[in-house]
Amino acid sequence: MKILVIHGPNLNLLGTRNPAIYGATTLQEVDDLLAKRATEVGAELVSQQSNIEGEIVNFLQDAALRHDGVVLNPGAYTHTSVAIRDAIEAIGIPVVEVHLSNIHAREEFRHTSLTAAKCVGQISGFGVQSYLLGLDAVLAHVEGLPR
Ligand code: DQA
Repeated sequence: MKILVIHGPNLNLLGTRNPAIYGATTLQEVDDLLAKRATEVGAELVSQQSNIEGEIVNFLQDAALRHDGVVLNPGAYTHTSVAIRDAIEAIGIPVVEVHLSNIHAREEFRHTSLTAAKCVGQISGFGVQSYLLGLDAVLAHVEGLPR
């Protein structure tokens, strides 16, 4: 099982960016926790980060060639990107959307996700655990575990 994790814009700043909202864990620490969980369950995991919308589209298109599923935090592009939504729809492998913060409890413009409707589902508000839950969710989906 090969899973790609994609972190969107500004998530490279985790650890110092609004710790009250996003926590004190760095992106490297998030990736280390994900890699540890993946090893425990026998999955292969690759993590990528980009601040650039088109690069995230490229990551998604490439994922369809070499991965079984994707855990995606589109960052602010969640609320704006038709291009990322279309890429998720186009690639035909399952994508689980994750957010550190509870986007539904924040400013109104964050309540709408353009991307979530093309994902298997969305996990929002559990901090770093959102990513780990997202990994479990995409693996369960790919393995065809009961819903
Ligand atoms: C985020 C929520 C988005 O609204 C925000 O723009 C981010 C991070 C989250 O993980 O909580 O950059 O995706």
